[in-house]
This record gives sequence, C-alpha cells and structure tokens, in this order.
Amino acid sequence: AYVVTDECVGCKYTDCVDVCPVSCFHEGPDMLYINPEECIDCNACVSECPPEAIWADVDLPEDKFQWIEINGEMSNKYPVIHESRGTKGEPTEASAEPSSQPS
Ligand code: SF4
Ligand code: F3S
Repeated sequence: AYVVTDECVGCKYTDCVDVCPVSCFHEGPDMLYINPEECIDCNACVSECPPEAIWADVDLPEDKFQWIEINGEMSNKYPVIHESRGTKGEPTEASAEPSSQPS
C-alpha cells in the first residue's frame, strides 16, 4: 500500500484525492491518510502531491517506517475524503484550525 507521511501535515493540498480510483484517502485533523486495505498500489497519487508526501511502503526510507502503522490506524478512525478542496496545487486550510468566525 501507499502511505502519506509528515510532509502532508498542515499542507493538505488534497490534489491526491481526485486521482485515487478507489477513494482510499481519509481526512484527519491535520493531514490525510491512506487506507492500506483499500489502496491498489496504482501510483497515481504520488505525482499529484506537491510536497511529495506519498510513498510506496516498499520505498519508504527507514525514518518514515512509522507512517505505515499510522496510516493504517488513522484511516480507520477518520472519514473518507471524496473530493479535493481548494485550487489545484494550492494548500487548503487545515480543518483543525480554529475557526475565526464569531459564534
Ligand atoms: Fe489511491 Fe492509487 Fe494512491 Fe493507492 S496508490 S492511494 S489506490 S491513488
Ligand atoms: Fe497531503 Fe499531498 Fe495529498 S500534501 S493532501 S498527500 S496532495
């Protein structure tokens, strides 16, 4: 499976979401995660990610091994994101950011 790593934190371009044929991206508070049971290793998302946050698990450098487990755990916890937000190639606002709107 492919995994999203720390380069995604706070970026959330979400361009990756639109190219995934099996909709296996899940949206956490500050980054996205790939469900390893759904990912079909198609490689489409890698070139869509501006900060190069997405890796094939087999290509991960050793210092990013922990992201395999994190993607598995977090993708079970957070909902699927079906569509990208914002302009292509532009970072979107992290949903965890406190709203500046008065309540
Ligand atoms: Fe989706 Fe393909 Fe990327 Fe897996 S490799 S997350 S199936 S776009
Ligand atoms: Fe994150 Fe890259 Fe997608 S920054 S939201 S994995 S395009």
